[in-house]
Amino acid sequence: MLGLVPSASLLGVDGHAVTVEVHVSGGLPSFTVVGSPDAACREASGRVRAALLSSGCTWPMHRVTVNLAPPTVRKIGSGLDLAIAIALLVASEQLPPEAVEGRAFLGELGLDGSLRPVPGTLCLIDALGASAVVVPAASAGEAALLGGRSVHGLGSLAAVLACLKGEEPWPSAPERVTPDEPPPAPDLADVRGQPVGRYALEVAAAGGHHLLLLGPPGAGKTMLASRLPGLLPPLSDRAALETTRIHSAAGLILPAGGLVRRPPFRAPHHGASSVALVGGGSATMRPGEISAACNGVLFLDELAEFATHVLDALRQPLEEGVVRVARAAATVAFPARFLLVAAMNPCPCGYGSQPGGCLCSDGARARYRRRLSGPLLDRFDLRVEVTRPSVTDLMGHDRSEPSAAVRARVLEARARAQQRGVGTNAAIPVDRLDELAPLGAGAADVLAQALRSGRLSARGLHRVRRVARTVADLQGDTEALTAAHVATALSLRSDAAGSASGSRALSA
Ligand SMILES: Nc1ncnc2c1ncn2[C@@H]1O[C@H](COP(=O)(O)OP(=O)(O)OP(=O)(O)O)[C@@H](O)[C@H]1O
Ligand SMILES: [Mg+2]
Ligand SMILES: [Zn+2]
Repeated sequence: MLGLVPSASLLGVDGHAVTVEVHVSGGLPSFTVVGSPDAACREASGRVRAALLSSGCTWPMHRVTVNLAPPTVRKIGSGLDLAIAIALLVASEQLPPEAVEGRAFLGELGLDGSLRPVPGTLCLIDALGASAVVVPAASAGEAALLGGRSVHGLGSLAAVLACLKGEEPWPSAPERVTPDEPPPAPDLADVRGQPVGRYALEVAAAGGHHLLLLGPPGAGKTMLASRLPGLLPPLSDRAALETTRIHSAAGLILPAGGLVRRPPFRAPHHGASSVALVGGGSATMRPGEISAACNGVLFLDELAEFATHVLDALRQPLEEGVVRVARAAATVAFPARFLLVAAMNPCPCGYGSQPGGCLCSDGARARYRRRLSGPLLDRFDLRVEVTRPSVTDLMGHDRSEPSAAVRARVLEARARAQQRGVGTNAAIPVDRLDELAPLGAGAADVLAQALRSGRLSARGLHRVRRVARTVADLQGDTEALTAAHVATALSLRSDAAGSASGSRALSA
């Protein structure tokens, strides 16, 4: 007898429809899985057998062949367990084929017959054609997010069988949870002084420009960076779905209400491996931190402490907005468009930018500089130095401008960029700079002067123009860029970052 059951398998952030075919025939008892299963998927035999026996079914003492079609798709993980068990029950005539018609099945089985969630439910559901889907109870909310099909969440194989046999009614669709008010993000009002750091943060949020904060310990770099999410607009429907799919595939906990609506803020520790950061892994092909930060912020605190090869792995995704991971099993592409914010001290002791303050040997400084490649540092449109807040700033009673006020300006500036047909100013293509960021007479002079003095390179020129566009947009100036706009943009591209990193590529 043959049993056929639709299911789906996850590769990267994409679900692929899989048909599970189980054939039971005469011959010595055996269990074979074919159709590109990975090790975890092949081990389904052990889990399915124990789960069937724990659920009051019998294990056929025959030759069992499981084919996972199409064979071109690599089947990773244990998410096909339930579908294999159901197809096996049909093939061994313990379930009538009509009972499973029009239904797809997702989930991993425990040895006790419990039904367990698998990562990527949202992506898997998307790949299914069936009008009804049976999923683990814990995944039902996520499975119902896309709508358009009936979703039944159940806790065990026995419960699924009871419903299939008509002994129990199918559970009703999970209720839509209205998300709780998210906890308030940290507010800029807490940051005293720091006019330059605050302004750079505003420009980064408004134009999507990557930002490097440089300064001595305790200057408030981490404090500033953690306030960036509070300045960004909520995600559009498309972006929310994209980020939610990535979080689902990465096995991250989704917010109540399902969709990730707020821009994610990911701050991986500097000990993170390149697989954790960029994604992959030989077996699972999970998205990494930079993909989890997609449509939001990736914050690399203590940038110089990250391993060099880990940082170099960031360069390609920063350029292309997607990271391609090639493994023996498959090659997958993870979306990775994020706003990069990094913080670092200018040297190992931290006081390098303060006259007479540095305690480091030349060797120690050189080693520190070598950690960061020029090409990576060059990706930062904004490089600013923050100094320790003054006593007056810290002890004063004036509250600083709150995030809400800054955010209002950011949203207006972003709306201006969108009217021009570019997502953010950081994404203005080089060939449209003359049209979208035209230079007034004075502006051209300031840039020419900076180029002549060697402060600015050709590549830096484009970046400065994009930042100047954002500076102008924040002030509500939509005409040609003025000398003042360009001078402000140049001042946000500090040479100190260059001298601290010692990289010539950095001279703006
Ligand atoms: N401008 C400021 N206004 C108010 N508090 C501040 C400010 N700067 C620093 N602080 C206080 O100092 C603490 C340390 O700041 P933070 O961790 O942001 O420094 P940092 O620049 O990241 O230092 P490090 O280089 O050691 O990581 C903050 O938690 C805050 O309490
Ligand atoms: Mg810090
Ligand atoms: Zn030093």
